[in-house]
Amino acid sequence: MSAKSPPSCLAVPVVLLAFCLVGPTAHADDIERGRYLVEALTACDNCHTPRGPAGYDLSSRWSGGAQTFSDKSYVVRGPNISPDRETGVGAWTDEELRAAIVDGVGRDGRLAPVMPSDSYKPLTARDLDAIIAFLRSATPIHAPLQSPQQRSGEWTPRLMPGAAATFDEASLADKNTRGLYVASLARCLSCHSEEIDGAPDYQSRLGAGGKTFRNAAGVVVASNITSHSVKGVGAWSDDDLKRAITHGVARDGALLKPPMSTLSKAHFSKMSPEDLDALVAWLRTIPPKE
Ligand code: HEC
Ligand code: HEC
Repeated sequence: MSAKSPPSCLAVPVVLLAFCLVGPTAHADDIERGRYLVEALTACDNCHTPRGPAGYDLSSRWSGGAQTFSDKSYVVRGPNISPDRETGVGAWTDEELRAAIVDGVGRDGRLAPVMPSDSYKPLTARDLDAIIAFLRSATPIHAPLQSPQQRSGEWTPRLMPGAAATFDEASLADKNTRGLYVASLARCLSCHSEEIDGAPDYQSRLGAGGKTFRNAAGVVVASNITSHSVKGVGAWSDDDLKRAITHGVARDGALLKPPMSTLSKAHFSKMSPEDLDALVAWLRTIPPKE
């Protein structure tokens, strides 16, 4: 990973020193917060960064995802979201980027629901801007989309109860609220809730599992992560749960399959202890379901 070092303040004329000490420091904090959110929780690379044999190809970060997602009403890929002005989002305003990230609206209309803006909806104003600051700090990569996106549908947002609007910063001091925030940004329940009509049924099947993935590991079904003591994770210890989330290891020690294992390794392993604690506490509040 090529971590960019902050600009050196050593060679700056004295008149600029005050700005150098205050301005860029605050900005660097935003970028670091954005990096944390993106790398530990929102996993934007998953769909917007090409992959090499060893995982994400960070030398062409944000230049567009490798997978094509298709459904009855769309055929799309994660587009170039690097700061390139011509083929990426370098010429987009912050307002346009906010609309894409939390409202699922691109420059030419509603984005296909593969772009998980429903899960990003609760982002606090500060965290949303931090993600944008982090994206803008990347290297611009010139890479046009291979083929145009096709969409022919209207998608109603499927927002998770309690996480359907912007959170305010102060509310995150409450552990359960923070856990719900983390769960939404990390899209846990969008995979772990059973679907109706191709979208998670948060009302009656929250956490009950059932979404099915077909990949190199075969047919993989998202598990029941409600607090049911037999069907769900109600009997698991906090440490069992944390290990599953951050290391992709099941309670019996078996390795979990993709996409859970890949998300654990590339992203959830980077979760802060506070966020992980809050997430586990909130997961325990999901009512048991068979
Ligand atoms: C599960 C896959 C997935 C994840 C994760 C994801 N995106 Fe997307 N994103 C897409 C797809 C697919 C599109 C294009 C949808 C379309 O064209 O209808 C898109 C579109 C966008 C657009 C509009 C770009 C354009 O040229 O129209 C932006 C901006 C964007 N995503 C930013 C992000 C950010 C920032 C994150 C993380 C916070 C993120 N995405 C996470 C799949 C994803
Ligand atoms: C892209 C979809 C996806 C996302 C996002 C996702 N999971 Fe998973 N998860 C799965 C699948 C699929 C499995 C089953 C893996 C297997 O069978 O080996 C799984 C397995 C698990 C397990 C193991 C349960 C058991 O009974 O073995 C736990 C716990 C878990 N996930 C929690 C979470 C949490 C918490 C989050 C959010 C931080 C999350 N998952 C995000 C798809 C996902």
